[in-house]
Amino acid sequence: MAADKRKKTGEGKDPLPRHIAIILDGNGRWAKKRGLPRTAGHAVGAETFRRIATACKNRGIEYLTVYAFSTENWKRPEDEVGTIMKLLGRYLHEAIETMERDHIRMKVFGDLEALSPELRALVEKTDEISKGYEGFQANICLNYGGRDEILRAARRYAIDYAAGRADELSEEGFSAYLDSAGIPDPDLLIRPGGEQRLSNFLLWQCAYAEFYYTDTLWPDFDEAELDRAIAAFQSRDRRYGRVKSF
Ligand code: FPP
Repeated sequence: MAADKRKKTGEGKDPLPRHIAIILDGNGRWAKKRGLPRTAGHAVGAETFRRIATACKNRGIEYLTVYAFSTENWKRPEDEVGTIMKLLGRYLHEAIETMERDHIRMKVFGDLEALSPELRALVEKTDEISKGYEGFQANICLNYGGRDEILRAARRYAIDYAAGRADELSEEGFSAYLDSAGIPDPDLLIRPGGEQRLSNFLLWQCAYAEFYYTDTLWPDFDEAELDRAIAAFQSRDRRYGRVKSF
């Protein structure tokens, strides 16, 4: 079974990435090109997420993590922020109805304190349901920043260390304080929308991720594009600092 082969992550070429991370980008431009408000691009972008998550699950990918709303995105116009929050709320609400049937686990990464009580309650509910399952897991980054995540983790570690609950710092030990605790690092990072930067996304976790950039705007991202990204990943030689073995 492919999963056995995938366990070899870190040992030469992987048949499939275990964990794919995606920076959702290009919704605004997609809408503008069609003379629509930016919010229409986000609505289609949410549908694209649904489709791509299902496609990942069907291909045997174990984890999908998407960057939906950054700590900097609050600076956008109020109605745009409101629409994105509403879409996320609707998505979580629908996920709660279907994740048990489809055996999908969900987690939200980010500083949840700034979210509305309604959204936080939905996040808690998806966490609760996810505990009963194994299998595909979708992670949504919400009010998320990579540096912010590392600082939040460092604060929690310092408290535990002072209380004698934590060992001397190690990479593995510190990872357990991140939002992604217990989840393997992304193997493949996809950025649609034409930009080629990390934008404060999963800074710690992407240390060895393979990057795939495409000009395709997120609402147009489809299964064929996903397969191109996976094929590009499969053609890479992951050496983790070692020399190539012939
Ligand atoms: C980036 O495109 C997109 C966002 C900041 C929002 C992403 C949010 C969603 C798709 C809504 C809900 C998500 C889920 C996971 C259900 P942009 O607006 O920066 O595009 P631009 O670069 O073309 O302006």
